[in-house]
Amino acid sequence: MPPSGSLNIVVTGGAGFIGSHLCDRLVHKGHAVTCVDNLYTGRFDNVRPLSNHRNFRFVKADVREPLAIEGPVDRIYNLACPASPPHYQRDPIGTVKTCVLGAIHALELARTTGARILQASTSEVYGDPDIHPQPESYRGAVNPVGPRACYDEGKRCAEALFFDYRRVHGVSVKVARIFNTYGPRMLENDGRVISNFVVQALRNQPITLYGDGSQTRSFCYVEDLLDGLELLMESDDTVTGPLNLGNPREVTVKEIADMVLAQTGSRSRLAYHPLPQDDPRRRKPEITAAASALGWQPRIALEDGLRSTIDYFALKVATPTATAKHADSNAVIDVTARPSRKRRTALSTVGGSA
Ligand SMILES: NC(=O)c1ccc[n+]([C@@H]2O[C@H](COP(=O)([O-])OP(=O)(O)OC[C@H]3O[C@@H](n4cnc5c(N)ncnc54)[C@H](O)[C@@H]3O)[C@@H](O)[C@H]2O)c1
Repeated sequence: MPPSGSLNIVVTGGAGFIGSHLCDRLVHKGHAVTCVDNLYTGRFDNVRPLSNHRNFRFVKADVREPLAIEGPVDRIYNLACPASPPHYQRDPIGTVKTCVLGAIHALELARTTGARILQASTSEVYGDPDIHPQPESYRGAVNPVGPRACYDEGKRCAEALFFDYRRVHGVSVKVARIFNTYGPRMLENDGRVISNFVVQALRNQPITLYGDGSQTRSFCYVEDLLDGLELLMESDDTVTGPLNLGNPREVTVKEIADMVLAQTGSRSRLAYHPLPQDDPRRRKPEITAAASALGWQPRIALEDGLRSTIDYFALKVATPTATAKHADSNAVIDVTARPSRKRRTALSTVGGSA
């Protein structure tokens, strides 16, 4: 049992980039954390340091199946979903199912346990926006039949489900629309701007810029994002969102490339490629709603966040490490198949010992 005052928290997608930082933070605050992940884009290495902690358990499971979590649940952070285009487009039908069935299964867990639940939604619900910056009231301009639709429409449907569960079942829901986030533990090969540029620069390979590099992005350091997610989760029940969480400092992709080149001292040159289909031209969050509802705003400068991200990737590039395939089988509870009664019992009993 966790010490009094602490909560039982489920983090789906907890072995991924954002989820693993969230698990770290919650465990170290004294909460009992159950990380649920199928290791599709996440890595057990991300949570390995927590694996022997008495307040942490890892459950290898797919959110497209009903979630069998025994014991009380007070909070659910629903983060399970591949987040970068190459990964969510690799199995687009699977991505839609993860967004939609994953939301239903997480919401059912919230309904049956009385837990409060937060959805990691995305700025991609705005599509390629006609207005700039995008406030939460903007309904978006998503191409429903394009290659990004599996993710964008899946996340839009998940938002709809969250508010329907609130209206129909009275579930306490929170929806965060997350804008580009970066930091240590991003995957090297995920096609996201910062990880791509940093890895290419560290290897002195050409930096791939799409279009002329004048498209804009805004990048939020992962610790700033976690502050926002936690504040939203613990906010008054009337604060449901959707709330934009991101860093409003807008920079061109070319400016990012130049910053990375300067910080790494790389010999890489810039290589220009055609823009991918439906790539948003501009992206910048309007965060006044989050600032007024939560008193939140990002604090970490891009230059500082880049430095720690570069330090992380410098180690990775020097010493490539284990992938999800090498997960420690003793520490992983595999419930990818529909769990048997025996397995459900195991779920309630396995935890760390430290
Ligand atoms: N990183 C960003 O910039 C960003 C921006 C907007 C929204 N988000 C959202 O935040 C969440 C986390 O993103 P991230 O950047 O950490 O991505 P990530 O790919 O690193 O993490 C996602 C995690 O979900 C797991 N997962 C995927 N499908 C699953 C399934 N069917 N069942 C169980 N686990 C599954 C993956 O293995 C991985 O550990 C995602 O929902 C994403 O849509 C992220």
